[in-house]
Amino acid sequence: MADTAPTILVFDSGLGGLTVFREIVKARPDAAYVYLADDAAFPYGNVPEDELVTRVLAVIGDAIEKHSAELVVIACNTASTLALAQLRTKYSVPFIGTVPAIKPACAASRSKLVSVLGTQATVSREYTKGLIREFAQGCEVRLVGANMFATYAEAELHGEPAPDAALIAEIAPCFVEESGRRTDTIVLACTHYPLLLDRLLKLAPWPVDWIDPAPAIARRVVELVGPPLAPKPPAPAQMIFTSGVAPSPKLKAALKAFGVG
Ligand code: DGL
Repeated sequence: MADTAPTILVFDSGLGGLTVFREIVKARPDAAYVYLADDAAFPYGNVPEDELVTRVLAVIGDAIEKHSAELVVIACNTASTLALAQLRTKYSVPFIGTVPAIKPACAASRSKLVSVLGTQATVSREYTKGLIREFAQGCEVRLVGANMFATYAEAELHGEPAPDAALIAEIAPCFVEESGRRTDTIVLACTHYPLLLDRLLKLAPWPVDWIDPAPAIARRVVELVGPPLAPKPPAPAQMIFTSGVAPSPKLKAALKAFGVG
């Protein structure tokens, strides 16, 4: 284990990775953080696979070098399910990915009806289907691809919330009722979606457990780089947008609440 606090790069297509970042910071407040949002290509859910692999490898490779990152957290399901293996092959720093939390969701479900809400890209990936084959544990798992949810989550942080009806329409297919059973567990398979959790709790047609992988990712960070070296309050993370566009005052305030500046 290193005797200086590590520099950790947290990466997403946009602001969704902040839901992972906030958990990691709680676990390692003493580390130095760079949060890289590839907003120039947001949303990743719409980018063709070969283009996305090339882009993710290049953008992350540059950032590792520029910031001397010692650990990279890919806080994006859409990128992890596609490019994690290639990132690990190409770069020698350790990577932690974010992939749909199908195993814990299926282990926890009592009704054995589980839904996975992700980008269209994530739910159609072979990687995700493989997780279901391996970890469904007797559950029926419904894959639900959302078209606009990540965009709605970004809008929320920009202070322009999407209407309830739009959110309800996207989550509706997750709620299955059959032969006296109802879906009781929904995997949030896009890191943007926990940004909308307060609203989801209110808008769901019945209560379910929404599974956010962020705490498990924070535990994995500690496994890899160890516990905090000193009781130090977190310093604001360095925030980088690949678009180069400066955040609006509203977004700036939202980012500050997450501890990035
Ligand atoms: N935050 C992302 C994910 O976890 C990506 C959303 C997008 O850019 O489409 O999948």
